[in-house]
Amino acid sequence: MIRAHFGLERDPFDRDGIALLPHQQEVLETLRVHCHQGGLCVVIGDPGTGKTVLKDALVRLDKKRLHVPVVNRTMHTYHSTLRILCEAFALDTTGRTIRCERRLIDEAHAIHQRGHMLAPLIDDAHLLDIDALRRLRLLFDDFPPSHNLVLVAQTPLLHALSLSTNDDLRSRITYSVRLRKLAPDDLRDFLLSELDRAAMAHSTFTDDALALLVRSSAGLLRRARNLALSSLHEAVRDRTRTVDLPQVNSVLLQPHWQAVRDLDLDPN
Ligand SMILES: Nc1ncnc2c1ncn2[C@@H]1O[C@H](COP(=O)(O)OP(=O)(O)OP(=O)(O)O)[C@@H](O)[C@H]1O
Ligand SMILES: [Mg+2]
Repeated sequence: MIRAHFGLERDPFDRDGIALLPHQQEVLETLRVHCHQGGLCVVIGDPGTGKTVLKDALVRLDKKRLHVPVVNRTMHTYHSTLRILCEAFALDTTGRTIRCERRLIDEAHAIHQRGHMLAPLIDDAHLLDIDALRRLRLLFDDFPPSHNLVLVAQTPLLHALSLSTNDDLRSRITYSVRLRKLAPDDLRDFLLSELDRAAMAHSTFTDDALALLVRSSAGLLRRARNLALSSLHEAVRDRTRTVDLPQVNSVLLQPHWQAVRDLDLDPN
């Protein structure tokens, strides 16, 4: 719809060929170093700050020498998580827990013997049951010490790790970083660069509309994307090729955006 209306060859804000933003790139570089030396890295961030996009970039970073088996589905028991991990290593997933563990340990050592790096990554690690995380940690203790475990999570993981009962996990962390929210100017640049990517004129958003998009996004990339895309849909509906305040405001009147605003005003 947007493509046809604006005469575009690609959808604005699509995820193909996404390039990391400078602060994501900086974290990726640090993770790359830790993948060489091994450790436990934790990437924390609010929903929609670009953690999973960063994870995808780590997976693609050096496919020949850096293996990044990913667990995305974290609301599972330890055994199911093991099977997901076996899948990520392209290993047989059948059999009892101990057999899956043995297979994973053998594969980790085989990767090490080939001189390759290994960085198992758990996305949305805050949703993983802490005991399952502890059991995974014990499993990874039997991996070659050169492996780098990466946990990507929202803030509740930090709260869990701050408990003294979880000191065994916290004390192993070699690097942690918070993916920050974007400052208004950076978020503005992000929106304009996304217009560039889709070969759309910057004037597609009026100055007022752009300012409102930035303000309402509160520094969050996903919010900025969704709000901008919905505003473009409104422009299609209104048969205009310019997004102005009426388009953005009509999106912001939708109940879920109002709920977001209420939450921003009173986070408690
Ligand atoms: N470098 C980037 N370039 C373009 N868009 C980006 C970039 N990083 C993030 N985004 C946009 O922000 C959205 C949210 O990013 P992502 O899914 O990585 O957030 P997240 O931090 O993993 O959130 P959650 O904690 O909810 O899983 C992406 O779908 C994408 O549209
Ligand atoms: Mg994510």
